[in-house]
Amino acid sequence: MSDLLARLDEAAAAVRGRTTVRPTIGVVAGSGLGAFADSLEDPVVVPFGEIPHFPAPTVPGHSGALVVGRVAGVPTAALKGRVHAYEGYSLDDVVFPVRVLGRLGARILILTNAAGAINPDFAPGDLMLLSDHINLLGNPLTGPNQARLGPRFPDMSAAYDRDLRERAAAACSRVGATAHEGVYIAVPGPSYETPAEIRMARTLGADAVGMSTVPEVIAARHMGLRVLALSCLTNRAAGVSDEPLDHGDVLAVTERLKSTLLKVLTRIVVEAAKAP
Ligand code: HPA
Repeated sequence: MSDLLARLDEAAAAVRGRTTVRPTIGVVAGSGLGAFADSLEDPVVVPFGEIPHFPAPTVPGHSGALVVGRVAGVPTAALKGRVHAYEGYSLDDVVFPVRVLGRLGARILILTNAAGAINPDFAPGDLMLLSDHINLLGNPLTGPNQARLGPRFPDMSAAYDRDLRERAAAACSRVGATAHEGVYIAVPGPSYETPAEIRMARTLGADAVGMSTVPEVIAARHMGLRVLALSCLTNRAAGVSDEPLDHGDVLAVTERLKSTLLKVLTRIVVEAAKAP
C-alpha cells in the first residue's frame, strides 16, 4: 500500500472510531462559513489536530474541525475550515482532508469559498455556483498516481455536476438568495490580484477569483466524487471598483450572509441527497 493510502486510511479510521454515522455527503465550509458545520444534528466534532496526518489551518476565520452529523437526517461530514497553498502547505496537504471525506464514503462533495467578483454584473453579497474553473494554482495530482484513488489523467470536462448545480440554483431561489453561474479562477495568493491581472482573468473568461477550492475539486473528481461548488462573492475584484481589498471586509460579508448561506447549504444537502 502506498504511503498516501496508508495515511488516508489511518485518518479515516480515526474519524470512524468516533462516530457510527457514515457520511454520504461531504461539505467544505470556507472563510467564515463554519456556521454550517456548527449546525449539524448530533454532531461529533473532531479537531483537525486529533486526526492523524491532517494539516492545521493558520488563518483567522479558519479554526479546523471535521464535524460528522446529520442535515435533516442526511448523514454528512463537514470540514470546518481548510488549509491553503499560500499558508505554505503542499497541494497534497491541501487536498488531504477532502480525500479523507471520500475514504469515509462521501459520494458528493459540496465546497464553499469566499471570492472576488470579476463579472461587473455580480455584486458583493451575491452567490455564484461554479460552472467551470481556470486553474492557476497548481495541480494536486502531480507526482506518482495512486491508481486505487483514481486514474492518471482524470477528465475535467464536467467537473461541476450539472444536476447538483440545478438543484442548488433552485434551493437558492427558494431561500431568496441571488445566485449566478460562472467560472472561478484559482490563484495562489496570498496577495490580492492587481487590476491588470483581473483584466487578464476577465479576458480569459473568469467571473470570480479566489485562492482555494480548485485543488480540492481536482482531488475529488480524481476519486469520482460528484462536485458542487459555491462562491460567496465578498468584494469586487481589484480594479473592478476603486475600493481597496481587505480580508476584514471579506469576513464581514460572509458574516452578514451567514444565515442565508446556512439555509442555502442545508437545502442543497437535502436536495443533493436525492440526486440519482
Ligand atoms: N481575490 C482573491 N481571493 C479572494 C478575493 C479576491 O478578490 N475575495 C475573497 N477571496
